[in-house]
Amino acid sequence: MDDTLAPRLPGDPTAAAAVARMIRVDHAGEYGARRIYQGQLAVLGRGPHGPVLRHMQAQEQQHLDRFAELVAERRVRPTALLPLWHLAGFALGAATAALGPRAAMACTVAVEEAIDAHYAAQAARLGDDEAELRGTIETFRAEELEHRDIGLANQAEQAPGYRLMTRLIKAGCRAAIAASERI
Ligand SMILES: [Fe+2]
Ligand SMILES: [Fe+2]
Repeated sequence: MDDTLAPRLPGDPTAAAAVARMIRVDHAGEYGARRIYQGQLAVLGRGPHGPVLRHMQAQEQQHLDRFAELVAERRVRPTALLPLWHLAGFALGAATAALGPRAAMACTVAVEEAIDAHYAAQAARLGDDEAELRGTIETFRAEELEHRDIGLANQAEQAPGYRLMTRLIKAGCRAAIAASERI
């Protein structure tokens, strides 16, 4: 049976294949997130939003470093799609930033909300045998929500086309998540 479909009760052992997939997709997501902020910084880094973008980029770097360690420690195969996320993440960040700081912040709100839902679902699936990984995910999830709040505090919702843009970016994130779990 596909372990993504197996019923699981709280405290059950978490299937190794499911954990490997979580680490693969989270490594990919943090890699992409760092690239989004690098793309935004390429456009807006010298402006007034530079410091807050650098703060978020530095946290994504920490998240990425931790998942890279987990990939190595647990011998998880990284996604083959990293070169795609390298380009797509930077392009998304730079393109939204080129539309202006509010659009860049709208991108942040969309991405971080998608990651929040993703991490919440993962944490709920992890048993007590994976308490440390669950704790890591919960810590990072709190920081992603901080990023979402930074976006909202920086007028994300005043970006032109906010609703459509965030809907499209969230759909893109969910597609990237589904692909990175498998490929
Ligand atoms: Fe992150
Ligand atoms: Fe984030």
